[in-house]
Amino acid sequence: MVSKVFSSVSFFLIALFMIGSVAHASSEESASEEFVVTLDHSNFTDFVAKQKFVVVEFYAPWCGHCKKLAPEFEKAASILSKEDPPLILAKVDANEEENKVLAREYDVSGFPTIKILRFGGSVVQEYKGPREADGIVTYVKKQSGPAAVEIKSKEDASLLIDDKKIVIIGVFPEFSGEKFENFTTLAERLRSDYEFGYVVDAKLLPRGDSSVSGPIIRLFKPFDELFVDFQEFNVDSLVNLIEEKSIPTVTVFDNDPNKHPYVVKFFNTENDKAMLFLNFSSESIEAFKLKYHDVAELYKGQGIGFLIGDLDASKGAFQYFGLSEDQVPLIVIQKNNGQKFLKTNLEPDHIAPWVKDYKAGNVQAFKKSEPIPEVNNEPVKVVVADNLQDFVFNSGKNVLLEFYAPWCGHCKKLAPVLDEVAVSFEDDESVVIAKLDATANDIDPDVFDVKGYPTLYFKSASGKILPYDGDRSKEDIIDFIKKNSDKSTQQESGKDEL
Ligand SMILES: *[C@@H]1O[C@H](CO)[C@@H](O)[C@H](O)[C@H]1NC(C)=O
Ligand SMILES: *[C@@H]1O[C@H](CO)[C@@H](O)[C@H](O)[C@H]1NC(C)=O
Ligand SMILES: *[C@@H]1O[C@H](CO)[C@@H](O)[C@H](O)[C@H]1NC(C)=O
Repeated sequence: MVSKVFSSVSFFLIALFMIGSVAHASSEESASEEFVVTLDHSNFTDFVAKQKFVVVEFYAPWCGHCKKLAPEFEKAASILSKEDPPLILAKVDANEEENKVLAREYDVSGFPTIKILRFGGSVVQEYKGPREADGIVTYVKKQSGPAAVEIKSKEDASLLIDDKKIVIIGVFPEFSGEKFENFTTLAERLRSDYEFGYVVDAKLLPRGDSSVSGPIIRLFKPFDELFVDFQEFNVDSLVNLIEEKSIPTVTVFDNDPNKHPYVVKFFNTENDKAMLFLNFSSESIEAFKLKYHDVAELYKGQGIGFLIGDLDASKGAFQYFGLSEDQVPLIVIQKNNGQKFLKTNLEPDHIAPWVKDYKAGNVQAFKKSEPIPEVNNEPVKVVVADNLQDFVFNSGKNVLLEFYAPWCGHCKKLAPVLDEVAVSFEDDESVVIAKLDATANDIDPDVFDVKGYPTLYFKSASGKILPYDGDRSKEDIIDFIKKNSDKSTQQESGKDEL
């Protein structure tokens, strides 16, 4: 059994959102009636088949975010049960062995995962709404209604279109025909991401050319150019256009939850990710914003996205990257392969030349590392990113290396076993047992594929690298080391390289 590790991006997101999310204490925990419907493998399909609309949370009993959500979800369920017809929230314990097939079927890869199931389960959408009771109620009510609403007055328009979210409005001379049908299909497809409306008279809309008679699709957004018109009615092309236009030139990350959907989008792209962190209350913020925005414009469409983050909201990110507050203002670029590039104590005028150097391949990758330990005389040796090369690859020894996390229970269980293994090789100079805290040190994912903790790798004296997948017993580990060890190549490694 290996504890689950999230991909670096989703881990980063969790780290981002852990900060600033407030736990709401529930006073109604003792209420006896449960409004959230419990489902499991035995009754899920039958139950869902009978529902036109149901929201299902897949949770795990050990998951902290699920525990925080539970009272909010229950409170929302009790409010939504009074709707006519009642709106149903349900939950499945996806950690339960017998429910795992169900969880796989619904692509549950993290907890909680919340899905909206429509028409007896024939349409499945991701829940992208808030996680506190009032927000859940508002979002779920909206999701259960029509995907797009008709705008009949300026008031309708100003209720729907605000300065917080993206809203997509179809302007049509009449609400029929293939283009309108396609707009409706689009709204159904993307309704859990955006709000949709349609209108005959463009004069009712707050921005854009009000003399158009359509058909036209206008996307309103709270950033950059504030609106954009499409004269495209192919559904797939529209989905792509909307995705592209809904990412800000510079994504802002601070404690405002309204901005978090854009942060999620930022991380969900394939782009390299540039992140500028600084104190938003500092005097130089405007100068940074201006220069950063210029750079972001310059590199648009070149595979690099830009985010600016407030120090105050970014503690999780700093921990994740191994950065400290005295390094701000700083910019870090993360590539999808995990490589990072860093410039600290930045001034506004440094941004453009540094990004240019980065694009030209002239910036050295940055590696998070604990300090190299001064004393290292326990049986199991401590390896950090900065001495991994010397200790493991250049040592000419047979090295068994454990990648662990300080919080991982299976690692704690393995620790005394590894100690015993190390002691049993004490008289063999050619064998080293070592451990590396993989949460505090960056490792090259192309060399060591660490997807869970603990992960064990063996590097033979001659350089063969093997994952250890065997039983975590002293005997099996010792056998494996003996079987795969080479004679010490210390002499060889003393030679000059050709
Ligand atoms: C589904 O089955 C579980 C376990 O038997 C039960 O606790 C739950 O109430 C059932 N749900 C429904 C809606 O019947
Ligand atoms: C409507 O959508 C379908 C499917 O995406 C597409 O084949 C068709 O060309 C679209 N109609 C118009 C007028 O764009
Ligand atoms: C940001 O700057 C303000 C004003 O200079 C200061 O009061 C605040 O403590 C700083 N925040 C952080 C997290 O350093």
